[in-house]
Amino acid sequence: MNDSFGRIIDYVRISVTDKCNLRCKYCMPVEVDHYEMKDILTFEEIEYITSCMAGLGISRVKLTGGEPLVRRGVCDLVGMLKRIEGIRQVTLTTNGILLKENLHRLIEAGIDAINVSIDSLDHDKYFSITGSKDLDTVTDAVVAAVEKGVKVKINAVTAGISLTDVSDLIEFSRSNKIDVRFIELMPIGYAKCFDSLAHDRLMDWFCQNHPDAVHVSADGNGPAKYYRIPGYDGKVGFISPLSDKFCNSCNRIRLTTRGYLKSCLCYDTGVDLMPLVRSDSSKEEKHEMLCTAIRKVIMEKPSGHDFAHTQNITEKLPMSAIGG
Ligand code: GTP
Ligand code: 5AD
Ligand code: SF4
Repeated sequence: MNDSFGRIIDYVRISVTDKCNLRCKYCMPVEVDHYEMKDILTFEEIEYITSCMAGLGISRVKLTGGEPLVRRGVCDLVGMLKRIEGIRQVTLTTNGILLKENLHRLIEAGIDAINVSIDSLDHDKYFSITGSKDLDTVTDAVVAAVEKGVKVKINAVTAGISLTDVSDLIEFSRSNKIDVRFIELMPIGYAKCFDSLAHDRLMDWFCQNHPDAVHVSADGNGPAKYYRIPGYDGKVGFISPLSDKFCNSCNRIRLTTRGYLKSCLCYDTGVDLMPLVRSDSSKEEKHEMLCTAIRKVIMEKPSGHDFAHTQNITEKLPMSAIGG
């Protein structure tokens, strides 16, 4: 359906867990308390809410976390969502640590594309950002997924990395059919204390180093702007919410791990769907209550974020509970 600014909202990002098996400095640098299982949406509840959304025009779902693959059975959830009438696409954003062992089941369940977070291809740098020595496990999984015909994109948040890291990642897309996207850090949660490589500077560097790169049309559902470098198999993308605000083409809503439906990443406004989906009302009443709440969140979507003025960011949740 359309929001009050005429934007078509047809994409939902669902965080299936607030837990993660990495400790990225800008996201979850320390051990934090996690929600109890009873307080997070069950797969059946996610399926039910998604079917209500599908009736309102949502056709694409992104599963995120935390790390979605740490929640047992998430591959089954992919299948459950794919079977909902009106849902055309289910994709996953993962840190890739558990990807290889889940790849077969994800493909069987019908996953449409997978985004994998790799901020640097340098083992020491990767360790300093994520606390993990398993970079090879992640790159192996990426290669395995591509070999199996899955559409894969790499996400690199440009915080704590250098232009050498950027260059290495771009080179990775030369002989691998993988898009590499650079993401400007958003000041949410722990990331408020970090600086990102400003993307206007990054773009200048990119244009100087790849003067033959051509801007190509968008790929996927996200806000990335893509470039193709002649001779490279993959594309290079930039997600620059601060340097190149893309809110006027926003197409999404977000469902947090605890069932709160958010209208924008930057603000805490939305509606808590948990009491609605768990109410004792009749099936018809429940369906009506959920659809009314979803419509309200879509209609009340703000025109855009205000990350430039940190005092205006009302979202207090960490990125891991929102799902990016
Ligand atoms: P696809 O390209 O279709 O896979 O979608 P995507 O790029 O939205 O997926 P992904 O989960 O990989 O997100 C990449 C980055 O974009 C993450 O850092 C998200 O937080 C960020 N992002 C996604 N949607 C929005 C948005 O609406 N606003 C802002 N500011 N950032 C977003
Ligand atoms: N700003 C931008 N991207 C972020 N991610 C995590 N935290 C932030 C942040 N503060 C990225 C992850 C993952 C994607 C879902 O969001 O690295 O690739
Ligand atoms: Fe985990 Fe992703 Fe957060 Fe890193 S950015 S700690 S991989 S949820």
